Amino acid sequence: MTKRIAVLPGDGIGKEVAKGTVQILEAVFECFHHDYSFEEALIGGAAIDAEGTPLPEKTLKLCLESDAVLLGAVGGPKWDQNPPELRPEKGLLGLRKALGLFANLRPVTTYPSLLHASPLKKEVVDGVDMLIVRELTGGIYFGNPSGRRGEQNEVAVDTLEYSKSEIERIVDKAFQFARNRRKKLTSVDKANVLESSRMWREIVNKTVEKYPDVQVEHMLVDSAAMQLIARPNHFDVIVTENMFGDILSDEASMITGSLGMLPSASLREDNVGLYEPVHGSAPDIAGQDKANPLGMILSAAMMLRYSFQLEKEASILEEAVAKVLKAGYYTDDLRVQGGKRVGTKEMIEKVLDAINENQAIS
Ligand code: NAD
Ligand code: IPM
Ligand code: MN
Repeated sequence: MTKRIAVLPGDGIGKEVAKGTVQILEAVFECFHHDYSFEEALIGGAAIDAEGTPLPEKTLKLCLESDAVLLGAVGGPKWDQNPPELRPEKGLLGLRKALGLFANLRPVTTYPSLLHASPLKKEVVDGVDMLIVRELTGGIYFGNPSGRRGEQNEVAVDTLEYSKSEIERIVDKAFQFARNRRKKLTSVDKANVLESSRMWREIVNKTVEKYPDVQVEHMLVDSAAMQLIARPNHFDVIVTENMFGDILSDEASMITGSLGMLPSASLREDNVGLYEPVHGSAPDIAGQDKANPLGMILSAAMMLRYSFQLEKEASILEEAVAKVLKAGYYTDDLRVQGGKRVGTKEMIEKVLDAINENQAIS
């Protein structure tokens, strides 16, 4: 049966990186004679402009009926003054919530050819291979009340709320990943201040009884932000709540050299997933063929692995990315001396060439 992939390019560079990634996936599916369909829909600012809402009904319906969703990015200055319900970001948050995608995986790995691209010292970032497991459908992003109150709206409120079951399922997921990796889990919280973090800690301490082979440590988020830079090699799997994970993953991207390198997968128990790069719509470079498409391409590799169990095909994409970097092709965001500067389109062509040269395909 044909597998259905919903493609939501979104706004800004989201459109540029999504387009090339679909081309790459089509090439891989064709080589392996897999039967997949791509169906495009609007989300974010593009959907607000065309349909008056950041998450149109038909987009949500398509995603609910699809086997996986590929998303570029949403947002941009054009919509920044819109009321809360009419912001592009609301479309993305609504989609994650509606699909029940509570586990956001954000792997951070360094490439030998990019060690000099990081602002950190080469010996500090060499060998880093960590997985940030970010809770995605709870916390301060979704708590009630949220909004303004007071006679003159002079008070702004956001609520950080977690239920036990929401924490249990993400913590359990993180333990499973740690068990299949280097068996080390760092739980990041703010238990010295927040009640939700104290409950988080209790649940981690309880769950470890089920995973005695996994070594657990607790780290306060402010310290974790520092340790990520000081000794990134210390980390294997990090599990943390929604907003801490958002912030720490952008920070961790600089270990690899650029935010444009980081992929992500957002999953629920049945592994239906949403795959999107960690970066945003980058209004400062949108429409200029400057965006690094590798985070999006690596997100597509995660889709092949997690939603379709196509491990070999996923590896082919990842190997192609590594090969192109090794050959010295860099987009502008990768601050490496030498090599050849390429734009988004040429980078995608280079990845396509590397895929076609792969022995596993020919
Ligand atoms: P951003 O991630 O869009 O950009 C931050 C910086 O990184 C910019 O200088 C940008 O040029 C650079 N950058 C990001 N991705 C890049 C890539 N692939 N190649 C080269 N350079 C890249 O964050 P921002 O500027 O704070 O936010 C812009 C908009 O994107 C906002 O509306 C925000 O809400 C939205 N956003 C969306 C997502 C998403 O859709 N998942 C994620 C983050 C931000
Ligand atoms: C991300 C983004 C989103 C988030 C925004 C755009 C809602 O920053 O995917 O990291 O905060 O989750
Ligand atoms: Mn973010």
